[in-house]
Amino acid sequence: MFYKTNEPHGLPHNPFKSCVVPRPIAWVSSVHPDGDVNLAPYSFFNAITSDPPMVMISFNGYHQHGGEKDTLYNIKTSREFVVNMVPLALREAMNVTTAPVAHDVDELQLAGLTTEDSVLVKPPRVAEAPIHLECELYQEISLPCTLRDSINTMVIGSVLGVHIRDEVLTDGMIDLAKINPLSRLGYLQYTSVDTVFEMERPKG
Ligand SMILES: Cc1cc2nc3c(=O)[nH]c(=O)nc-3n(C[C@H](O)[C@H](O)[C@H](O)COP(=O)(O)O)c2cc1C
Repeated sequence: MFYKTNEPHGLPHNPFKSCVVPRPIAWVSSVHPDGDVNLAPYSFFNAITSDPPMVMISFNGYHQHGGEKDTLYNIKTSREFVVNMVPLALREAMNVTTAPVAHDVDELQLAGLTTEDSVLVKPPRVAEAPIHLECELYQEISLPCTLRDSINTMVIGSVLGVHIRDEVLTDGMIDLAKINPLSRLGYLQYTSVDTVFEMERPKG
């Protein structure tokens, strides 16, 4: 089949998100100006450069209670956030933190998670997560939106510091088989990294 994205696709559900898979999940901790800590998952997320390390997250739509999603609002006001990696074992906790609760409701408590202080930024880290990226807002970019009364906003962040739990290192390399990072597919589907292999690049 083929469909033009500005015309109906004729399928029961929009297939687009299943066409770009798997997408890593940024489990983003941030702090509201009132001091409330927020945690929510975002899968329109990726690393975009490594020298210096930078990441992007895309926010789609408003908060159900009105205004921007809490994470976006907090990043814009504080200019800081932490990306926590979600291992397969924490999938249920991750799912709890997607609830569209008011900003003064602590999603970490709802999900039974605990925090550790960050080194360079105010938002704390999810203690149970194996890897954390401490980030500073680099740029906010408004994206087009075809839905009425909605917004799409991309945030680019500079990664200032990286925490890696010693126990997920094997011979000095991150051992993804010990983490099984959770990733997003389309629809309500997920996958996790459980196969890792190496390939040499051709010499030019
Ligand atoms: C696995 C997963 C990935 C998600 N990815 C995104 C995303 O990339 N962009 C987005 O706007 N919402 C995404 N959401 C929905 C947000 O998590 C949800 O709107 C949440 O309530 C936002 O919380 P906040 O207002 O505390 O930031 C995702 C949800 C799940 C479960």
